[in-house]
Amino acid sequence: MKIARTNEQLSALLVEAKKNKATIGFVPTMGALHAGHLALIEQSKNENTLTVCSIFVNPTQFNDAADLAKYPRTEESDIKQLEEVMCDILYLPSVDEVYPVSWKSPDFNLGHFDSIMEGKMRPGHFKGMAQVVYRLLCLVCPNRLYMGQKDLQQFTIIKHLIPQFGLDIELVCAPIVREEDGLAMSSRNVRLNEDERAIAPLIYKTLTAANSNTFKDPQIYCDFAITQLEHAYMKVEYVEVVDRKTLLPIKNWNDTSEKAVCVAVQLGPIRLIDNIFID
Ligand code: PAJ
Repeated sequence: MKIARTNEQLSALLVEAKKNKATIGFVPTMGALHAGHLALIEQSKNENTLTVCSIFVNPTQFNDAADLAKYPRTEESDIKQLEEVMCDILYLPSVDEVYPVSWKSPDFNLGHFDSIMEGKMRPGHFKGMAQVVYRLLCLVCPNRLYMGQKDLQQFTIIKHLIPQFGLDIELVCAPIVREEDGLAMSSRNVRLNEDERAIAPLIYKTLTAANSNTFKDPQIYCDFAITQLEHAYMKVEYVEVVDRKTLLPIKNWNDTSEKAVCVAVQLGPIRLIDNIFID
């Protein structure tokens, strides 16, 4: 695997690849890699001739300075894992490379996506996320961009923004990789203590109950889910049954065939988000 720490190094590697007419798959990450990230790399490797992964803890998408400071940084083990899955190029830039003083972020219109669910809870987060994804896409110029269903709202926002980016990119949604007990893999999970880790799988169990046909309407399911999670000492921020395209809540199960159930809870020191698709 080649590692580029500067934009100059990255473009030298990409010029070489483009000479060989490679199709480029790109997986942006913030590091602290786990099997969920590696599945994205593997999918990209299967579908492209060259895979680029970036690791950049983007300061503009953290609305809480303490959260940014606490974000796990595990460069050595990240490099080792990427080498094991034979990622081709790792872009590992500094803040100055990504945001030079001369660079001005375009203003993207996130529409209603910025003010619902995660947007409501984390003001400014998606604006910063969109800014960095656009910047990285301009630097890497991939044919395909791989993002996880784990962050469904993030994925949906990038899908909504691609026409505004004006870049010819295919966006690919990769399924959620879970621990054996159902907990969605996340870089933040390592901060759960033993007791918290033991109750965390209840989130996925509660999500899958939405599939059971026992709830007359989505609101009755959401009330059940909140009670279930709060009973296990989680602080529920939201549980919503939404239309997968708009991410807006639905009132009746048959309002749309493409639904998702989305949840965010505070468990001990961390926020956990998860979702499942239902038909
Ligand atoms: P990060 O949280 O590192 O996630 C990088 C990518 O991995 C995202 O597309 C995310 O949805 C995906 N991912 C995380 N956990 C996953 C899991 N358990 N299964 C499958 N995919 C999973 O998301 C970000 O970084 C940043 O916001 C970023 C897009 C890099 C912009 O800074």
